[in-house]
Amino acid sequence: MCGIVAYVGHREAAPLIIKGLKRLEYRGYDSAGIALLDENQLNIYKKKGKVAELENILKDKKLHAKTGIGHTRWATHGEPNDVNAHPHYSHSETLAIIHNGIIENYAAIKQVLINKGYTFESATDTEVLIKFIEDIKKHNACSTEEAVRLALNEVVGAYAIVIIDEENPDQLIAARKGSPLVIGIGENEYFFASDATPIIEYTKEVVYLDDFEIAVVKNGKLNIRNLQNQEKDAFIETIELELEAIEKGGYEHFMLKEIFEQPRSIADCLRGRISSENAHIQLGGISNHLEKLSKAKRIVFVACGTSWHAGLVGEYLFEELARINVEVEYASEFRYRNPIIKEGDFVIAISQSGETADTLAALELAKSRGATILGICNVVGSSIARLTDAGVYTHAGPEIGVASTKAFTAQVTVLALMAIATAHSKGTINEDEYRRLIIELESIPDKVADILTQAEEIKDISKLFTFASNFIFLGRGVNFPVALEGALKLKEISYIHAEGYPAAEMKHGPIALIDEDMPVVFIATKDSSYEKVVSNIQEVKARKGRVIAVVSKGDKDIKGMVDFAIEVPMAHEMLQPLLTVIPLQLLSYYIAVLRGRNVDQPRNLAKSVTVE
Ligand code: M6R
Repeated sequence: MCGIVAYVGHREAAPLIIKGLKRLEYRGYDSAGIALLDENQLNIYKKKGKVAELENILKDKKLHAKTGIGHTRWATHGEPNDVNAHPHYSHSETLAIIHNGIIENYAAIKQVLINKGYTFESATDTEVLIKFIEDIKKHNACSTEEAVRLALNEVVGAYAIVIIDEENPDQLIAARKGSPLVIGIGENEYFFASDATPIIEYTKEVVYLDDFEIAVVKNGKLNIRNLQNQEKDAFIETIELELEAIEKGGYEHFMLKEIFEQPRSIADCLRGRISSENAHIQLGGISNHLEKLSKAKRIVFVACGTSWHAGLVGEYLFEELARINVEVEYASEFRYRNPIIKEGDFVIAISQSGETADTLAALELAKSRGATILGICNVVGSSIARLTDAGVYTHAGPEIGVASTKAFTAQVTVLALMAIATAHSKGTINEDEYRRLIIELESIPDKVADILTQAEEIKDISKLFTFASNFIFLGRGVNFPVALEGALKLKEISYIHAEGYPAAEMKHGPIALIDEDMPVVFIATKDSSYEKVVSNIQEVKARKGRVIAVVSKGDKDIKGMVDFAIEVPMAHEMLQPLLTVIPLQLLSYYIAVLRGRNVDQPRNLAKSVTVE
């Protein structure tokens, strides 16, 4: 969603901010803008469309600003256009603001301001906020910083904001509640951003602002206070992210790079946590909770999108191996359903970004009702990671493509590690099984690499389906969530309508859609549902459907039945999703590229959905 980049220091602010905004493009946006303090004058430039268009506006201007704020906007209040783009001026045009999030009570505040004679140019809640801050400043004759604090005490909603002030050229004021904000600390310079990606080429020292905190950089010093005006310590962390991890590295798209990174990202996720020599799994992040987890009455996974699909795989893993009752909830439904939480329940959030608003709120609710809350996150230091009692990072590295690929396989890897460790601690699997599962897990990266060698064949198959209007994905058991994930991948990047179902559900409705124009993707590996899935394939072929099947290596029977078969190596049934999802990611990718789609930034989508 929206992206923030701001700078105060000794460098030219404009090029640095533009570069930073480009680094945040992956989050999804529809307009971009910048406010610069040039020769003590505050100027705003903004434009609907891509950051490159904003850059174009700036290219002939002589800019020397050392302080500036920049923003990419993903529209919530008001359509995407130049006027609604951020930054927004205050009434006197001496302050300007950028904002991520939603001010829920903006309409009431706006009415009060209208009654006082204020007028508004945009349809945004953000313009209301900056005019409200200036109004407070005027009436209390206080500093901007104090006016921000007083205003935020009146505000309901979520925000990460940065404010620039013409009267204080070397000052920036930032605050957060519910939307992430990272402050990079350099030599006599400070960077503000929605995540660390625009900052890492300048400094690795960062402070993650907490909810209800206001950070003020003034005269080269950083000061943090909470909304009650109490001073807070700036907890400086060193981030490990390297620049190459956020660049394309020769691939045409980030998504393709991330698909091909999976042998490494899964290995990174396993590294230091698993040893077949000693037959041991060590999950440092949750080791203190493992015994309690093994006695859990119930585990509830809360997540959205792809992470929800990973949760469904987790359900099969924990129920099969650890014999613990599992529920998998859409975070957005869980939080508004007055859920029943009992003592001994574990609520586990799964989130790549660790910032998804619904998942965060579901977790807060579960915590307030006494559940033990754990997190499975990719982004280190994210809001969910910091809220949970404990958790396991997926260590997949930055995922820039909006369509999640390596984050999914890393989430499933963590879930497998957790389920196997819990099952071992509980005694629902014996030592032999424990060792066998560990050996199987260790072999997954090589098996994924083996599947990726078929990329060219999958590309050839995708050429024949480029102009399909619909797709059905079918799988059973632990491969049912993979069918859902395959359908989501295809629809989000190619805009082809796609549905995923458990294969047996086909006869209860979707079979009516089958004809010679309907491509059906089956996940039909040799597992406990194999014979049943074979029957489902025959039912589709009998109705002339075109079948692409993901099959186990050497399966000649299904190959003889279907139009196209893509082989995956044999694996323990519970670990198969880590393999069967790979051909579906590639199929979606190649179809989307052939359709000329913007694969890394599909229309209307944001990488991290920080509003509900
Ligand atoms: O960051 P999160 O894992 O919490 O994000 C959840 C979903 O928004 C995300 O998985 C989304 O569905 C992706 N676009 C899927 O590719």
